[in-house]
Amino acid sequence: MIQRPRGTRDFGPDEMERRRYFEFIMREQCHRFGFREIATPIFEHTELFTTKSGPGIVEELYSFKDKGDRDIALRPELTASVVRFFVNELATLPRPLKVFYFGQMFRYERPQSGRYREFFQFGAELFGNPLPESDAEIIGLACSMLERTGLQEYQVRIGHIGILRGKLTDAGIAPEAAQPILQKLDKKAYPEAEELMRAAGVDAEHMQEIVRITGTIGGAEVLDGFEGEAAQHLRQVISILASYGYTKVKIDLGVVRGLAYYTGMVFEADAPKLGAEKQICGGGSYSLSELFGGEKVFSTGFAIGFDRTLLAIEKEGSMAPAFGLDAYVVATSDAMRPTAFQVVAELRRSGLMADVDLMRRSLGKNFKYADAVHVRRVVIIGEKEMEQGSATIRDMATGQQTLVPLEELARALLKMRE
Ligand code: HAM
Repeated sequence: MIQRPRGTRDFGPDEMERRRYFEFIMREQCHRFGFREIATPIFEHTELFTTKSGPGIVEELYSFKDKGDRDIALRPELTASVVRFFVNELATLPRPLKVFYFGQMFRYERPQSGRYREFFQFGAELFGNPLPESDAEIIGLACSMLERTGLQEYQVRIGHIGILRGKLTDAGIAPEAAQPILQKLDKKAYPEAEELMRAAGVDAEHMQEIVRITGTIGGAEVLDGFEGEAAQHLRQVISILASYGYTKVKIDLGVVRGLAYYTGMVFEADAPKLGAEKQICGGGSYSLSELFGGEKVFSTGFAIGFDRTLLAIEKEGSMAPAFGLDAYVVATSDAMRPTAFQVVAELRRSGLMADVDLMRRSLGKNFKYADAVHVRRVVIIGEKEMEQGSATIRDMATGQQTLVPLEELARALLKMRE
């Protein structure tokens, strides 16, 4: 037997129906916010990610040489690809340009619950301006997508990378040297961050201040001691989110983010029930287009970890609606089979989800099968009923049977579905 590769999953019919259901409501929510869907390739030139997503991503890349000796990588995230697409083809579209995407990403990570080598992200990017309105729109969309899934327990934490970067600059750290320190702070690995800072010549006072900032968590009031543009920006973002009515948001200046391209607001959402891999969404504002040879355009975006969000929903015990066929058509004899095929075709044309007996089973065995696959109603095509031009509809939940003229069948079943 050949096993699937480590960190990948197969999805059976029940799981796929559940996944498609949540994908549908998230997509619908993006449309409600005026975002439009785009798609980019699953693989790109490796350089796109090594230079644009930042050094953190390099060791996790699935990369290889293709037959033309090109360096190719499976996408580990989509922001770099979307910006490449924007600069090459979308830059002339009216702004703000609001786009979203759904698809699989690949990272060579150590697999565990909620962490896979192939996983799915539902993300959005907004190209326009650096105003708090854009950041609030992006955070608002992420919140409302999570809300629509029915997930109850999650918290959105909003920070501003400019505050920590500013403090590191004040402490005499060059921007290139700041990234490894920020990555340690992102992982809350304080001793290692302090060691890096000490090695870079940061004095004890600045170091204390930097660690203190990462512990600033709470309502808008925790920003009271902070002056400057970044804090003012965050105050406005929080105030717009309050106008929109989102309550699960708080300030957390310790949000650093693993990817290198963020320049301003940064945010994450956690579902505490998930334990170690509890981060279900991450995003923030960035300015990448000039690195691709385009004009400087402020952008902001996020990606929801689709798999983790579904795990969190499952842990809370909420279910997607059951799928189940509307009707299963069964002939009681060989002579009736052609009529059964005609009937199922008509039901399908009417928009019903309908199936027909393909196994030539007895009526009793067909009922058992219908039960097992959660069919709502069985349509029995019997000789006696057919003499009156009718068929019997059996409700599988109640056992109740109704005789219905053939030409009324589809309408009757549609009505029963309401
Ligand atoms: P990220 O934080 O690297 O951000 O990923 C976003 C989300 O994808 C995470 O919060 C997590 O839920 C999920 N995720 C990441 N790695 C895995 C994995 N191995 N298995 C399962 N889920 C995973 C980005 O990718 C940015 N591109 C987000 C963004 C968009 N920023 C601006 N625009």
